[in-house]
Amino acid sequence: MKWIKVKNKTEMACIAADILCAQVLLKPESVLGLATGSTPLCVYENMVKRYQEKKISFADSKTVNLDEYYGIQPSDEQSYRYYMDTNLFHHIDIPPENAHVMNGMAKDADEECRRFTGLIHALGGIDMQLLGIGHNGHIGFNEPDDHFTMDTYCVTLSESTRKANAIYFKNGLSDMPEKALTMGIRPIMQARRVLLIAGADKKDILQAAFNGPVTPQVPASILQLHRRLTVVSCEE
Ligand code: F6R
Repeated sequence: MKWIKVKNKTEMACIAADILCAQVLLKPESVLGLATGSTPLCVYENMVKRYQEKKISFADSKTVNLDEYYGIQPSDEQSYRYYMDTNLFHHIDIPPENAHVMNGMAKDADEECRRFTGLIHALGGIDMQLLGIGHNGHIGFNEPDDHFTMDTYCVTLSESTRKANAIYFKNGLSDMPEKALTMGIRPIMQARRVLLIAGADKKDILQAAFNGPVTPQVPASILQLHRRLTVVSCEE
């Protein structure tokens, strides 16, 4: 594991964008696993800037997103599809058919999870997975539990995650979905490289995840077992 501690979000964004763009420059047809939330926003901004400056093209790249709320339209401003379109996909040259997010409106959630698992296999697996981390140690929406869930699945969100994310919904908690589709631990651990980014507010949970035991109570702790993990965290 390589842990890069930087001063602030600007430095974190720059280093994370360097790592993701290096992956694409070395292998233009890379499959990138992407995350949403507040932490990657500055990274995506940085990647868009590099594309606009013609330093990189994503024309041959493919992306698969970690998660999506269940029961939300892709056109809904709170959906992760909308987030990805507006913060990254619509500003770079990735062909729309190469940018995959699970369908939060799928009638059969389990079937949608199986479809996504098959898709990742068909793409040849994930070359680099970008992750954030929840205050409770979740990665994707793999919440603290008494076991790790390996396969991509439909999860009931924990109270702490619903409270943390409710601020993004107009009517707060009452609008916030109770379920989400999330990549399980297996596709994340099978990614050839993992890049986890965290702001200064995540110091405590990073300690628990990487200097404590590997436990499903802190889902990110499983990453201690990944052979090519890079963590970029902010000091302030
Ligand atoms: C988002 C995701 C989540 C977030 C985590 C941190 O796709 O999978 O695990 O990475 O909740 O969110 P922020 O960055 O908003 O603190």
